[in-house]
Amino acid sequence: MDPVRILELYSGIGGMHYALKECGVPAEVVAAIDINTTANQIYKHNFPETPLWNKTIEGITLDDFNKLSFDMITMSPPCQPFTRIGLQGDVSDSRTKSFLYILDILPRLHKPPRFILLENVKGFETSSARQRLVKTLTDCRYAFWEVMVSPTSVGIPNSRLRYFLLARSPTGDSDVQINSLILDTFPPPAEGATPQQASVLSPTCTSSGQTGEEVHGGHFLYKRETVTEVERKLVQNNNPSVRPIRDFLEPQKDGNMEPYLLGPKTLLRYAAVLDIVQPDCRRSVCFTKGYGRYVEGTGSVLQGCMETQMDGVFLGLDQLSEEEKLQRLLKLKLRYFTPREVANLMGFPHSFSFPQHISTIQKYRVLGNSLNVVVVSKLLQLLLS
Ligand SMILES: C[S@@+](CC[C@H](N)C(=O)[O-])C[C@H]1O[C@@H](n2cnc3c(N)ncnc32)[C@H](O)[C@@H]1O
Repeated sequence: MDPVRILELYSGIGGMHYALKECGVPAEVVAAIDINTTANQIYKHNFPETPLWNKTIEGITLDDFNKLSFDMITMSPPCQPFTRIGLQGDVSDSRTKSFLYILDILPRLHKPPRFILLENVKGFETSSARQRLVKTLTDCRYAFWEVMVSPTSVGIPNSRLRYFLLARSPTGDSDVQINSLILDTFPPPAEGATPQQASVLSPTCTSSGQTGEEVHGGHFLYKRETVTEVERKLVQNNNPSVRPIRDFLEPQKDGNMEPYLLGPKTLLRYAAVLDIVQPDCRRSVCFTKGYGRYVEGTGSVLQGCMETQMDGVFLGLDQLSEEEKLQRLLKLKLRYFTPREVANLMGFPHSFSFPQHISTIQKYRVLGNSLNVVVVSKLLQLLLS
């Protein structure tokens, strides 16, 4: 079988490229395109042979695209215009311009690609950008499937609910039932663990019912968690189809984790809102590009000392002096996950590495922008096989 020729748009650190390697279908990335110089250095470091264009997508002509002669486009367009906590500028946000340009180019290509895979955040499924994408694909007679998937569906203890669209140009063959294949591949997790459920959205897109990722019911317990949240975490931690966090950790030796410990100021200010996990947990929250710089809502932190009980630390904490609070909190030895551990939880293989000069904060930023390699490789298998 000839390798499938891939155009990797918004290539970042190459999450799609790793997923292609992992999916087992022979493929060649004929060009990777991104404007982020840090991400590009990391991409080049790992894929020195792949042509990498440090250009804006909207600056590439139809002629240039035609010359590449590709069978498939993979893309993760910028997600800020669609995030629920953002301004939701959608198609009027300037960061969507390049995506609209792709939609404009697609019907005019000499040889439209046989396959398209798009990844974006939850929120994209209700956007006007998605409506325009669907219209373009329908006009070009593509068959397509939309799905929301989180890595827990493939046994990885990390929530990262994302929208995926898989498209295939009609071949004339009777089309396989990708919908049911998708649901077989991403089985719903144990009952009660609603957030990570795979849900196929097409043919009619629905925007609700599959998340639960942000439950705010009930009253606060100590540590500003609601009863509902605590119960949900318990269910997730007892789900045997998801591997424990410990499988994704780096070996601890000679104080190598000291640089990742949370400092006194952070502990005193943010302890109550941290998402704390232990090595035997089977859950962690999504790592965002702000991890390591901001604390609230950017990703879980790990309890390093298991002899200390969480309840013993947090109960009555508010009544203590700053010094006493700090002494209690320090006992937990809370630390950030290292970039390598975040990469592990995002399904990057051991062969993935960073050039030496890339700082820890830069590593977290590019990883937070990337995708879960295992989830995408399974979707690619469904689309290409
Ligand atoms: C969500 S990230 C994609 C990350 C990628 N999938 C990965 O595995 O790292 C979006 C990427 O699009 C790039 N980007 C944004 N606007 C662009 C444009 N107009 N032209 C080219 N790249 C762009 C950003 O630099 C960023 O790396």
